[in-house]
Amino acid sequence: MATGSEWWRSAVIYQIYPRSFSDALNDDGIGDLPGITERLPALKDLGVDAVWLSPFFSSPQKDAGYDVSDYCDVDPLFGTLSDFDVFEKRAHELGLRVIVDLVPNHTSDQHRWFQAALASPVGSVERGHYMFRDGSGPGGDLPPNNWESVFGGPAWTRVIEPDGTPGQWYLHLFDSSQPDLDWTDPWVRDQFRDILRFWLDRGVDGFRVDVAHGLMKAPGLPDYTPPADGGSMGGAGVPLDLIVDENDPVTAPYWAQDSVHEIYRDWHQVLEEYPGDRVLCAEAWVEPLRKLARWVRPDEMQQAFNFSYLETPWDASAIRQVVDTSIDAFASVGAPSTWVLSNHDVVRHATRLALTADNPQGHGLGPRSEGIPDRAFGLRRARAATGLMLALPGSAYVYQGEELGLPEVIELPDESRQDPTWFRTAGERYGRDGCRVPIPWEAASPSYGFSTGANSWLPQPADWAEYARDRQTDVPGSTLEMYKLALRLRRDHDLGFGTLEWLHDFSADVVAFRSNGITVIANAGATPVALPAGEVLLASEAFEGSELPADVTVWLRA
Ligand code: GLC
Ligand code: CA
Repeated sequence: MATGSEWWRSAVIYQIYPRSFSDALNDDGIGDLPGITERLPALKDLGVDAVWLSPFFSSPQKDAGYDVSDYCDVDPLFGTLSDFDVFEKRAHELGLRVIVDLVPNHTSDQHRWFQAALASPVGSVERGHYMFRDGSGPGGDLPPNNWESVFGGPAWTRVIEPDGTPGQWYLHLFDSSQPDLDWTDPWVRDQFRDILRFWLDRGVDGFRVDVAHGLMKAPGLPDYTPPADGGSMGGAGVPLDLIVDENDPVTAPYWAQDSVHEIYRDWHQVLEEYPGDRVLCAEAWVEPLRKLARWVRPDEMQQAFNFSYLETPWDASAIRQVVDTSIDAFASVGAPSTWVLSNHDVVRHATRLALTADNPQGHGLGPRSEGIPDRAFGLRRARAATGLMLALPGSAYVYQGEELGLPEVIELPDESRQDPTWFRTAGERYGRDGCRVPIPWEAASPSYGFSTGANSWLPQPADWAEYARDRQTDVPGSTLEMYKLALRLRRDHDLGFGTLEWLHDFSADVVAFRSNGITVIANAGATPVALPAGEVLLASEAFEGSELPADVTVWLRA
């Protein structure tokens, strides 16, 4: 296919969080591959182009599968490799592309590589695959440097050497069960080329690359003290503005090192060996967008998640600015912009966009949080925001459940929480469980049809029947039907390849643009605004008359 028209440039990619999607294999309350396969027609019907599956690989599940103990096998929780093949075949039959998650920054501590490293002497080849260092201070009793884990607490854990004495320390930017690999080791690079080929040979269309800004660390692993005002927190609790700030000469020595790009150039070549347009998508919490664009230079990855967009409040001038900056930054390297509002690491946007208190996203929400919005108000804003996002040129990500209008689950009992963030901060941070609750399919079934029985690994709220897919199907004005309509119109009018042209004859609180003959108007202000004449193709809320109410987006054919 000619450069410039590849599918991923305009695709809407649906994120499946396997453990919370659909449980068909057994009644253990954990979603699985057979469950996904069974439900694929619902996604076809929704109108997305591709699915991305969060990890389903062998894993002790200390970080919901982002702690991988075998990259080339399926965890029995989710099924088998042949269940994967069945799933993939079915997805392809339905015309859906398949993206899997690759977790290269760290393995599980149960991975055979790490177990071999623990059993091998200091200075051995096996230890060299990971970031083992001697401690500092008398007796090496203190960590090698002052780095902190994204999930809270120190980023180092001391091991007991095979002879029973306290020994070296290993680095883990995340949980202590997730030791960081040493990407300066050519052996590690070889392993991951093989892992890429293993899945490419099975026919996957691409990879979402976990922590794609973290693989390389500054030589010498220097101490780092983040600026005092932590600022906004992104994703897994990564403080976004601590990662990279153009005006801040201090750059965390574990994020966004220039040397990381070599790795992606290498992987680009691996993907080139395969027919079709395969894709690498960076999960890189990097700002500013100009810097993030380096991940998608022509010889590196194809896409990068636009977390700057996700972090933008429901504010017209902030939205216009981030859209402009995104399109410019990505276009400067020939890449499409991407857009995303929710994923498994952040507070769902049906809650987040209406929060009245500053609740850092990666810290999550719980019963003791402040500023929780009214649900209907949050959903109204979310629908308006989605209506805007799905009209933008480029590729967009949709996180399972947002098409049902699911809010963040705030009232999870403490004893049900499972995010390592919750444990590593002794409950001070709620973490991400609230956006990971299994999704409702059928209002009248136990576990709302999520499982064949009543089990659900995180408890589902008692009042979730109203969000169930069957309650919304064919119901005009439901959130599900709004998503379907938006995706159909987006396709019919080729908005993914549209050219955005701002319209300036509206008040400053309004975001308005034209793209491929469609006029999109989002009222992010508090008062209704007059609408131009035209046929309303889509409205994020029903309204009467010729004025667009607050927190509503419309698409017009004018
Ligand atoms: C990414 C994942 C997150 C995980 C972390 C460590 O941020 O999205 O869920 O906890 O990496 O792998
Ligand atoms: Ca199951």
